[in-house]
Amino acid sequence: MTNNNILILPGDGIGPEICNEVIKLNNFLNNNSEDKISFSNALIGGIAYDKTGSPLPQETIKLAKESDAILLGAVGGYKWEELDISLRPEKGLLSIRKELDLFANLRPAIVFNELADSSALKKEIISDLDILIIRELTGGIYFGEPRGIYTKDDYREGINTLRYTDKEIIRIAKVAFNIADKRKKILCSVDKANVLESTELWREEVQKIRNSDFSNIHLEHMYVDNAAMQLISNPKKFDVILTTNMFGDILSDIAATLTGSLGMLPSASLGEQHNGKMYALYEPVHGSAPDIAGKNIANPIAMILSFAMMLEISLNRKQDADNIRKSIQNVLSENFRTSDISSSKSNIVSTSEMGDLIIKKLSDEL
Ligand code: IPM
Ligand code: MG
Repeated sequence: MTNNNILILPGDGIGPEICNEVIKLNNFLNNNSEDKISFSNALIGGIAYDKTGSPLPQETIKLAKESDAILLGAVGGYKWEELDISLRPEKGLLSIRKELDLFANLRPAIVFNELADSSALKKEIISDLDILIIRELTGGIYFGEPRGIYTKDDYREGINTLRYTDKEIIRIAKVAFNIADKRKKILCSVDKANVLESTELWREEVQKIRNSDFSNIHLEHMYVDNAAMQLISNPKKFDVILTTNMFGDILSDIAATLTGSLGMLPSASLGEQHNGKMYALYEPVHGSAPDIAGKNIANPIAMILSFAMMLEISLNRKQDADNIRKSIQNVLSENFRTSDISSSKSNIVSTSEMGDLIIKKLSDEL
Protein backbone atom coordinates (compact mmCIF):
# COMPACT_ATOMS: atom_id res chain seq x y z
CA MET A 1 0.00 0.00 0.00
CA THR A 2 1.42 3.35 -1.01
CA ASN A 3 0.39 6.94 -0.54
CA ASN A 4 1.72 9.46 -3.01
CA ASN A 5 1.42 13.19 -3.43
CA ILE A 6 1.24 14.44 -6.97
CA LEU A 7 1.32 18.08 -7.93
CA ILE A 8 -0.94 19.06 -10.82
CA LEU A 9 -0.10 22.14 -12.83
CA PRO A 10 -3.06 22.57 -15.21
CA GLY A 11 -1.68 25.74 -16.82
CA ASP A 12 -3.41 27.41 -19.76
CA GLY A 13 -5.72 26.71 -22.69
CA ILE A 14 -6.93 23.13 -22.75
CA GLY A 15 -4.63 22.25 -19.81
CA PRO A 16 -7.33 22.40 -17.10
CA GLU A 17 -9.85 20.35 -19.13
CA ILE A 18 -7.46 17.52 -19.89
CA CYS A 19 -6.12 17.50 -16.31
CA ASN A 20 -9.68 17.11 -15.13
CA GLU A 21 -9.94 13.78 -16.94
CA VAL A 22 -6.84 12.57 -15.08
CA ILE A 23 -8.39 13.65 -11.78
CA LYS A 24 -11.51 11.62 -12.60
CA LEU A 25 -9.43 8.61 -13.58
CA ASN A 26 -7.39 8.87 -10.40
CA ASN A 27 -10.54 8.97 -8.27
CA PHE A 28 -11.53 5.74 -9.90
CA LEU A 29 -8.13 4.16 -9.23
CA ASN A 30 -8.13 5.36 -5.61
CA ASN A 31 -11.50 3.71 -5.08
CA ASN A 32 -10.30 0.44 -6.54
CA SER A 33 -6.78 0.09 -5.25
CA GLU A 34 -4.84 -0.04 -2.01
CA ASP A 35 -2.43 2.48 -3.50
CA LYS A 36 -3.65 6.03 -3.13
CA ILE A 37 -2.66 9.23 -4.87
CA SER A 38 -3.61 12.63 -3.56
CA PHE A 39 -3.41 15.59 -5.87
CA SER A 40 -2.61 19.17 -5.05
CA ASN A 41 -2.72 22.09 -7.45
CA ALA A 42 -0.41 24.96 -8.27
CA LEU A 43 0.04 27.68 -10.86
CA ILE A 44 2.26 27.78 -13.93
CA GLY A 45 2.22 29.63 -17.25
CA GLY A 46 -0.04 32.48 -18.27
CA ILE A 47 -2.53 31.97 -15.47
CA ALA A 48 0.34 32.13 -12.96
CA TYR A 49 1.51 35.37 -14.53
CA ASP A 50 -2.02 36.83 -14.34
CA LYS A 51 -2.40 35.90 -10.68
CA THR A 52 1.11 36.46 -9.33
CA GLY A 53 3.13 38.37 -11.93
CA SER A 54 5.40 35.38 -12.55
CA PRO A 55 4.94 32.41 -14.92
CA LEU A 56 6.58 30.19 -12.28
CA PRO A 57 5.86 31.38 -8.72
CA GLN A 58 8.25 30.32 -5.92
CA GLU A 59 5.35 28.52 -4.25
CA THR A 60 5.02 26.23 -7.28
CA ILE A 61 8.72 25.36 -7.21
CA LYS A 62 8.48 24.57 -3.50
CA LEU A 63 5.43 22.32 -3.94
CA ALA A 64 7.03 20.64 -6.97
CA LYS A 65 10.12 19.75 -4.96
CA GLU A 66 7.99 18.31 -2.15
CA SER A 67 5.82 16.15 -4.41
CA ASP A 68 6.47 12.61 -5.64
CA ALA A 69 5.89 13.67 -9.25
CA ILE A 70 4.37 16.50 -11.26
CA LEU A 71 1.69 16.43 -13.94
CA LEU A 72 1.51 19.40 -16.25
CA GLY A 73 -1.30 20.27 -18.68
CA ALA A 74 0.01 22.94 -21.05
CA VAL A 75 1.18 26.54 -21.06
CA GLY A 76 0.75 29.47 -23.44
CA GLY A 77 -1.85 31.44 -25.34
CA TYR A 78 -2.38 34.43 -27.61
CA LYS A 79 -3.10 36.63 -24.63
CA TRP A 80 0.49 36.54 -23.39
CA GLU A 81 2.34 36.68 -26.71
CA GLU A 82 3.26 40.35 -26.39
CA LEU A 83 4.87 39.97 -22.96
CA ASP A 84 8.62 40.18 -22.51
CA ILE A 85 10.15 36.73 -23.13
CA SER A 86 11.13 36.47 -19.45
CA LEU A 87 7.46 36.67 -18.40
CA ARG A 88 5.83 34.54 -21.07
CA PRO A 89 4.06 31.30 -20.10
CA GLU A 90 6.71 29.22 -21.92
CA LYS A 91 9.31 30.66 -19.57
CA GLY A 92 7.45 29.00 -16.68
CA LEU A 93 7.87 25.62 -18.33
CA LEU A 94 11.52 26.19 -19.21
CA SER A 95 12.23 27.39 -15.67
CA ILE A 96 10.64 24.42 -13.94
CA ARG A 97 12.68 22.09 -16.16
CA LYS A 98 15.82 23.99 -15.15
CA GLU A 99 14.95 24.40 -11.45
CA LEU A 100 14.40 20.66 -11.04
CA ASP A 101 17.23 19.79 -13.44
CA LEU A 102 14.90 17.65 -15.57
CA PHE A 103 17.54 16.91 -18.18
CA ALA A 104 16.13 13.72 -19.71
CA ASN A 105 13.01 14.10 -21.80
CA LEU A 106 11.42 10.86 -23.00
CA ARG A 107 8.98 11.22 -25.87
CA PRO A 108 7.55 7.95 -27.12
CA ALA A 109 5.88 8.00 -30.52
CA ILE A 110 3.65 4.98 -30.68
CA VAL A 111 1.07 4.33 -33.35
CA PHE A 112 -2.21 2.91 -32.18
CA ASN A 113 -3.05 0.87 -35.24
CA GLU A 114 -6.70 1.88 -34.79
CA LEU A 115 -5.55 5.37 -35.76
CA ALA A 116 -3.18 4.48 -38.57
CA ASP A 117 -5.70 5.98 -41.01
CA SER A 118 -5.45 9.41 -39.39
CA SER A 119 -1.76 9.71 -40.21
CA ALA A 120 -0.76 11.68 -43.27
CA LEU A 121 1.51 8.77 -44.16
CA LYS A 122 0.63 5.44 -45.73
CA LYS A 123 -0.54 2.83 -43.27
CA GLU A 124 2.27 0.37 -44.06
CA ILE A 125 4.90 2.99 -43.28
CA ILE A 126 3.62 3.67 -39.78
CA SER A 127 1.63 0.66 -38.54
CA ASP A 128 3.14 -0.77 -35.33
CA LEU A 129 5.55 2.15 -35.10
CA ASP A 130 7.10 2.40 -31.64
CA ILE A 131 10.00 4.81 -31.31
CA LEU A 132 11.35 6.78 -28.41
CA ILE A 133 12.95 10.18 -28.71
CA ILE A 134 15.27 11.11 -25.87
CA ARG A 135 15.75 14.83 -25.85
CA GLU A 136 18.33 16.66 -23.73
CA LEU A 137 16.16 19.21 -21.92
CA THR A 138 18.18 21.58 -19.76
CA GLY A 139 21.05 22.64 -22.00
CA GLY A 140 21.88 23.60 -25.56
CA ILE A 141 20.61 26.65 -27.36
CA TYR A 142 17.53 26.94 -25.11
CA PHE A 143 19.68 27.97 -22.17
CA GLY A 144 23.10 28.98 -23.56
CA GLU A 145 24.59 32.40 -22.72
CA PRO A 146 25.07 34.98 -24.10
CA ARG A 147 21.54 35.53 -25.27
CA GLY A 148 19.27 38.48 -25.86
CA ILE A 149 18.36 41.22 -28.30
CA TYR A 150 20.90 44.04 -28.37
CA THR A 151 20.72 47.45 -29.97
CA LYS A 152 23.95 48.60 -31.61
CA ASP A 153 24.70 51.96 -33.26
CA ASP A 154 22.78 51.35 -36.45
CA TYR A 155 21.38 47.85 -36.15
CA ARG A 156 19.85 45.39 -33.72
CA GLU A 157 21.15 41.89 -33.06
CA GLY A 158 19.48 38.80 -31.65
CA ILE A 159 21.79 36.27 -30.01
CA ASN A 160 21.43 32.71 -28.79
CA THR A 161 24.26 30.36 -28.01
CA LEU A 162 24.48 26.64 -28.59
CA ARG A 163 26.81 25.06 -26.07
CA TYR A 164 27.15 21.65 -24.47
CA THR A 165 29.68 20.44 -21.92
CA ASP A 166 30.98 16.89 -22.01
CA LYS A 167 29.26 16.25 -18.65
CA GLU A 168 25.85 17.27 -20.02
CA ILE A 169 26.32 15.04 -23.05
CA ILE A 170 27.52 12.07 -21.04
CA ARG A 171 24.63 12.07 -18.58
CA ILE A 172 21.92 12.14 -21.25
CA ALA A 173 23.82 9.61 -23.39
CA LYS A 174 23.91 7.19 -20.45
CA VAL A 175 20.15 7.47 -20.04
CA ALA A 176 19.72 6.72 -23.74
CA PHE A 177 22.09 3.75 -23.79
CA ASN A 178 20.45 2.24 -20.72
CA ILE A 179 17.02 2.52 -22.32
CA ALA A 180 18.25 1.20 -25.67
CA ASP A 181 19.71 -1.74 -23.79
CA LYS A 182 16.22 -2.65 -22.56
CA ARG A 183 14.70 -2.32 -26.05
CA LYS A 184 16.14 -3.34 -29.42
CA LYS A 185 19.73 -2.38 -28.58
CA ILE A 186 19.94 0.15 -31.38
CA LEU A 187 20.50 3.84 -30.80
CA CYS A 188 20.58 6.67 -33.30
CA SER A 189 22.27 9.84 -32.07
CA VAL A 190 21.24 12.92 -34.01
CA ASP A 191 23.50 15.97 -34.39
CA LYS A 192 24.79 18.47 -36.92
CA ALA A 193 28.45 17.59 -36.46
CA ASN A 194 29.32 18.62 -40.01
CA VAL A 195 28.60 22.26 -39.16
CA LEU A 196 28.33 22.79 -35.38
CA GLU A 197 31.30 22.17 -33.07
CA SER A 198 29.09 21.74 -30.02
CA THR A 199 27.53 18.75 -31.71
CA GLU A 200 30.88 17.49 -32.96
CA LEU A 201 31.70 17.17 -29.27
CA TRP A 202 28.29 15.53 -28.79
CA ARG A 203 29.14 12.89 -31.40
CA GLU A 204 32.58 12.20 -29.91
CA GLU A 205 31.30 11.84 -26.34
CA VAL A 206 28.38 9.61 -27.31
CA GLN A 207 30.73 7.37 -29.26
CA LYS A 208 33.14 7.18 -26.29
CA ILE A 209 30.36 6.00 -23.95
CA ARG A 210 29.37 3.39 -26.51
CA ASN A 211 32.94 2.11 -26.73
CA SER A 212 33.61 2.07 -23.00
CA ASP A 213 30.30 0.93 -21.48
CA PHE A 214 27.80 -0.18 -24.11
CA SER A 215 29.61 -2.16 -26.80
CA ASN A 216 26.50 -4.36 -27.12
CA ILE A 217 24.48 -1.41 -28.49
CA HIS A 218 24.49 -0.66 -32.19
CA LEU A 219 25.12 3.09 -32.38
CA GLU A 220 24.50 5.14 -35.48
CA HIS A 221 25.16 8.87 -35.82
CA MET A 222 22.94 10.88 -38.12
CA TYR A 223 22.73 14.54 -39.15
CA VAL A 224 19.49 16.18 -38.12
CA ASP A 225 18.34 17.05 -41.64
CA ASN A 226 18.77 13.46 -42.73
CA ALA A 227 17.01 12.27 -39.56
CA ALA A 228 14.03 14.53 -40.27
CA MET A 229 13.78 13.09 -43.76
CA GLN A 230 14.10 9.47 -42.67
CA LEU A 231 11.56 9.94 -39.90
CA ILE A 232 9.06 10.65 -42.62
CA SER A 233 10.22 8.22 -45.31
CA ASN A 234 11.23 5.24 -43.19
CA PRO A 235 10.35 5.80 -39.52
CA LYS A 236 10.47 2.14 -38.57
CA LYS A 237 14.23 2.08 -39.08
CA PHE A 238 14.50 3.92 -35.74
CA ASP A 239 14.05 2.60 -32.25
CA VAL A 240 15.66 5.01 -29.77
CA ILE A 241 16.76 8.45 -30.93
CA LEU A 242 19.06 10.56 -28.76
CA THR A 243 19.37 14.24 -29.52
CA THR A 244 19.89 17.81 -28.32
CA ASN A 245 17.30 20.12 -26.86
CA MET A 246 16.33 22.00 -30.00
CA PHE A 247 16.64 19.10 -32.45
CA GLY A 248 14.55 17.03 -30.04
CA ASP A 249 11.87 19.71 -29.95
CA ILE A 250 11.57 19.62 -33.72
CA LEU A 251 11.97 15.89 -34.31
CA SER A 252 9.44 15.01 -31.62
CA ASP A 253 6.76 17.05 -33.37
CA ILE A 254 7.55 15.22 -36.61
CA ALA A 255 7.42 11.87 -34.83
CA ALA A 256 4.16 12.84 -33.18
CA THR A 257 2.61 13.71 -36.50
CA LEU A 258 3.45 10.25 -37.84
CA THR A 259 1.22 8.75 -35.21
CA GLY A 260 -1.88 10.51 -36.45
CA SER A 261 -2.28 13.23 -33.85
CA LEU A 262 -0.25 15.29 -31.45
CA GLY A 263 -3.15 14.72 -29.07
CA MET A 264 -1.99 11.17 -28.43
CA LEU A 265 1.57 11.59 -27.20
CA PRO A 266 2.80 11.71 -23.61
CA SER A 267 6.22 12.63 -22.28
CA ALA A 268 8.34 12.29 -19.17
CA SER A 269 11.03 14.73 -18.05
CA LEU A 270 13.35 13.17 -15.52
CA GLY A 271 16.11 14.43 -13.25
CA GLU A 272 18.97 12.63 -11.57
CA GLN A 273 18.52 10.17 -8.72
CA HIS A 274 19.36 11.72 -5.34
CA ASN A 275 19.09 9.44 -2.30
CA GLY A 276 16.54 7.27 -4.05
CA LYS A 277 14.42 10.24 -5.13
CA MET A 278 14.13 11.54 -8.68
CA TYR A 279 12.27 14.66 -9.73
CA ALA A 280 9.93 13.91 -12.60
CA LEU A 281 7.40 15.88 -14.60
CA TYR A 282 4.92 14.34 -17.01
CA GLU A 283 3.13 16.30 -19.71
CA PRO A 284 1.58 15.85 -23.14
CA VAL A 285 3.80 16.73 -26.11
CA HIS A 286 1.08 18.98 -27.50
CA GLY A 287 0.54 22.58 -26.48
CA SER A 288 -2.29 24.57 -24.93
CA ALA A 289 -4.42 24.80 -28.12
CA PRO A 290 -6.03 28.14 -27.15
CA ASP A 291 -8.29 28.02 -30.22
CA ILE A 292 -10.27 25.09 -28.78
CA ALA A 293 -9.85 25.82 -25.06
CA GLY A 294 -12.96 25.63 -22.88
CA LYS A 295 -15.05 23.86 -25.54
CA ASN A 296 -14.77 20.35 -24.12
CA ILE A 297 -13.50 19.01 -27.46
CA ALA A 298 -9.77 18.57 -26.78
CA ASN A 299 -8.26 15.10 -26.82
CA PRO A 300 -7.36 14.06 -23.25
CA ILE A 301 -5.47 10.91 -24.30
CA ALA A 302 -1.93 12.38 -24.32
CA MET A 303 -2.58 13.68 -20.80
CA ILE A 304 -3.94 10.35 -19.63
CA LEU A 305 -0.98 8.54 -21.21
CA SER A 306 1.33 10.97 -19.40
CA PHE A 307 -0.39 9.98 -16.16
CA ALA A 308 0.22 6.32 -17.10
CA MET A 309 3.92 7.05 -17.66
CA MET A 310 4.00 8.64 -14.22
CA LEU A 311 2.41 5.58 -12.63
CA GLU A 312 4.98 3.35 -14.29
CA ILE A 313 8.18 5.39 -13.90
CA SER A 314 7.70 7.36 -10.67
CA LEU A 315 5.27 5.22 -8.71
CA ASN A 316 6.26 1.74 -9.83
CA ARG A 317 2.69 0.87 -10.82
CA LYS A 318 3.28 -0.67 -14.24
CA GLN A 319 0.21 -2.86 -14.09
CA ASP A 320 -2.08 0.15 -13.64
CA ALA A 321 -0.25 1.95 -16.44
CA ASP A 322 -0.69 -1.02 -18.77
CA ASN A 323 -4.38 -1.26 -17.88
CA ILE A 324 -4.89 2.40 -18.75
CA ARG A 325 -3.12 1.98 -22.10
CA LYS A 326 -5.19 -1.08 -22.88
CA SER A 327 -8.41 0.74 -22.00
CA ILE A 328 -7.50 3.54 -24.38
CA GLN A 329 -6.85 1.03 -27.11
CA ASN A 330 -10.21 -0.64 -26.46
CA VAL A 331 -12.05 2.67 -26.62
CA LEU A 332 -10.35 3.48 -29.93
CA SER A 333 -11.10 0.06 -31.36
CA GLU A 334 -14.79 0.79 -30.77
CA ASN A 335 -14.34 3.85 -32.97
CA PHE A 336 -14.84 6.51 -30.34
CA ARG A 337 -12.75 9.55 -31.23
CA THR A 338 -12.28 13.13 -30.22
CA SER A 339 -12.52 15.35 -33.27
CA ASP A 340 -8.74 15.68 -33.83
CA ILE A 341 -8.51 11.94 -34.59
CA SER A 342 -11.91 11.41 -36.14
CA SER A 343 -12.64 9.83 -39.48
CA SER A 344 -15.87 9.36 -41.38
CA LYS A 345 -16.66 6.13 -39.50
CA SER A 346 -16.06 7.39 -36.00
CA ASN A 347 -18.34 8.37 -33.16
CA ILE A 348 -17.16 11.80 -32.15
CA VAL A 349 -17.04 12.34 -28.41
CA SER A 350 -16.13 15.24 -26.15
CA THR A 351 -13.15 15.53 -23.81
CA SER A 352 -15.17 14.44 -20.79
CA GLU A 353 -16.93 11.64 -22.67
CA MET A 354 -13.56 10.28 -23.79
CA GLY A 355 -12.41 10.33 -20.17
CA ASP A 356 -15.59 8.54 -19.06
CA LEU A 357 -15.21 5.89 -21.76
CA ILE A 358 -11.64 5.14 -20.71
CA ILE A 359 -12.69 4.82 -17.07
CA LYS A 360 -15.55 2.55 -18.08
CA LYS A 361 -13.17 0.25 -19.99
CA LEU A 362 -10.80 0.27 -17.04
CA SER A 363 -13.56 -0.81 -14.72
CA ASP A 364 -14.50 -3.62 -17.13
CA GLU A 365 -10.95 -4.86 -16.85
CA LEU A 366 -10.77 -5.04 -13.06
C1 IPM B 1 7.84 21.36 -26.03
C2 IPM B 1 7.39 22.77 -26.26
C3 IPM B 1 8.24 23.71 -25.43
C4 IPM B 1 9.68 23.56 -25.89
C5 IPM B 1 7.81 25.17 -25.44
C6 IPM B 1 6.35 25.34 -25.06
C7 IPM B 1 8.68 26.02 -24.55
O1 IPM B 1 7.44 23.08 -27.61
O2 IPM B 1 7.82 20.92 -24.87
O3 IPM B 1 8.19 20.70 -27.00
O4 IPM B 1 10.09 24.19 -26.87
O5 IPM B 1 10.42 22.80 -25.27
MG1 MG C 1 7.85 21.39 -28.88
